[in-house]
Amino acid sequence: MDEHPQVTLTIDGEEISVPAGTTILEAARQLGKDVPVICYHEATTPNGVCRLCVVDVNRGRVLQPACVAPCPAGAQIETRSERVERSRRTILEMLNAAVDLEQAPEILALMAEYQADADRFPDAERRTQPLHDDNPFYVRDYNQCVLCWRCVQVCAEDAQYTFALTLAERGYDTRVSTSFDIGMTESPCVFCGQCIGVCPTGALKPKIEFGLEQGWSADELRQRTRRSRRARLEEDT
Ligand code: SF4
Ligand code: FES
Repeated sequence: MDEHPQVTLTIDGEEISVPAGTTILEAARQLGKDVPVICYHEATTPNGVCRLCVVDVNRGRVLQPACVAPCPAGAQIETRSERVERSRRTILEMLNAAVDLEQAPEILALMAEYQADADRFPDAERRTQPLHDDNPFYVRDYNQCVLCWRCVQVCAEDAQYTFALTLAERGYDTRVSTSFDIGMTESPCVFCGQCIGVCPTGALKPKIEFGLEQGWSADELRQRTRRSRRARLEEDT
């Protein structure tokens, strides 16, 4: 029995053989195909959340997420058919309707590439949340969060094993949060910054960068990024 079985398939008409279990995204990248992703990141376990990477497999009833779907033997896959493009365009338009993408340059570039209409859903309700500024190291602005899960995953088994972040609520109200919404300094967070490193938008931002954008003075920057929360609380009372 072959211990390393290969599967052969075609992607956009080009034949390729890959080890069984290889995802369609990995195979497509080997052929130099540019399949767009949002929730996928090399450092995190793919969950197939955003669906931007969908491709057409054998003209099947539903499109398949390339980042999690393994290559089927003998399949004919299209990564850029009209149907695929329409689906990606709609996903981008829905994201734009619900989330502030102003500080997500890669997603904005995809909006342009797929000719997404920023006004497609004018009556859609944007998710709004208060800014979380509860520690000296970084701020969280979930108005800009696309719920890709990357931060939750690097905080958990994919890297840090800290489990400071989780997903709260359901459906439209789903959001990233600490357990029971406690402040970050009360949570297990060790302020490693890995969540900031994998966030594809401006939702997570170093406090110094945020302060500079806000026009804080040098004194204010020093106060708000270096002093302990206890010291600031004592000062405020
Ligand atoms: S905060 Fe950033 S990394 Fe975390 S889920 Fe939202 S967009 Fe993704
Ligand atoms: S990149 Fe594949 S589902 Fe998000």
